[in-house]
Amino acid sequence: MGNREIKQGIYAVGAIDWDRRLFDELIPLPDGTSYNAYLVTGEKKVALIDTVDPGKTRELIGHLAELQINRIDYIITHHAEQDHSGSLPEVLELYPEAKVVTNEKCRQMLLDLLPINAEQFITIKDGATLDLGGRTLEFIFLPWVHWPETMVTYLLEEQVLFSCDFFGSHMAQSDLFVSAPSRTYEAAKRYYAEIMMPFRINIVSHLKRLAQKKISCIAPSHGPIYSDPSFILDAYAQWTADKVANKVLIPFVSMHGSTRKMVDCLVECLQQRGIPVMPFNIPRTDVGELAKELVDAATVIIASPMVLAGAHPAMVSACYLINALRPKTRFASIIGSFGWGGKMIEQLQALMPNLKAEFLEPVFIKGIPREADFRSLANLSDLIARKHEQVGIHAPEAPKR
Ligand code: FEO
Repeated sequence: MGNREIKQGIYAVGAIDWDRRLFDELIPLPDGTSYNAYLVTGEKKVALIDTVDPGKTRELIGHLAELQINRIDYIITHHAEQDHSGSLPEVLELYPEAKVVTNEKCRQMLLDLLPINAEQFITIKDGATLDLGGRTLEFIFLPWVHWPETMVTYLLEEQVLFSCDFFGSHMAQSDLFVSAPSRTYEAAKRYYAEIMMPFRINIVSHLKRLAQKKISCIAPSHGPIYSDPSFILDAYAQWTADKVANKVLIPFVSMHGSTRKMVDCLVECLQQRGIPVMPFNIPRTDVGELAKELVDAATVIIASPMVLAGAHPAMVSACYLINALRPKTRFASIIGSFGWGGKMIEQLQALMPNLKAEFLEPVFIKGIPREADFRSLANLSDLIARKHEQVGIHAPEAPKR
């Protein structure tokens, strides 16, 4: 367990899930993930910070056994989601003296989700502290990152922030700390997009609160630990800022090639105008990559054909997801081709009420695109270029690494 020690008496005891490829039956995990749990030992008390996904309980218990942990006084539970709380019942069976330390909302959720005795809880308030003997844990409630009960723990003496899902990344690696900065940056950005972006406004205020703390190390519940907190704090500041990048995303579906021809034309027109553009063929796209690019793209153009009297179902699903993620997109439009009519534009627009973007004139055509249609797409590109210039948006500076 030597390589599991973060600082003297503080250990990583969680599990790496190398093989997991899907989360929530929705989010692709190309790099696997980890469920990080930490053991903090004081002179008088021992605290376990979070547990692991129920499929990895044996690994957690094995790590505690390797460390010869015979007694756990507290199990700090930041978040009721089962990838961190799911092992609680078995850990409590092995360590019956342990008390689950959490907030009232999380306690209620744990009682709803898991077979735990209500007597085994200690309920704490925001800002409360817990003395372990020479080490003090301070609890900070940060609701909506990404559930309403979420909280984090700050170790006062060593200034370590145990940040739960906040600042995490779905990334399996054997190194405890960030060792591949570019890979971690991309994984953390993707994780932010998939999990945190819908709560961007809450996160901005939480970042302000955390800025009042001196933080030497951030230990999240997924992915590597940050020994240089500015790496991830600067990235979050950039991702959550109102500023957007000079970039157009085109999620598209095409059945017989007409919509594809329109997309190809729009891509070329935007390239000619010096605007970076990314088409995503939705039925073949890893939606996590689309989500990641939604973090800062200025413009999104939806491109779809019609199936029967509405948009292609794959695009309906993509629009539902885009709406749920609440990206800070400034401009949007819809292009596509129909065979005999219907109300696709209105249907897709109605699916995205959370997109607080200016909707630009759609290009919606019958059958294959012809010269006039290509001119309309060139005009749309001109309009996008003007809109980007008007709001003075540029590609963001790369964060310090
Ligand atoms: Fe990693 Fe929201 O659980």
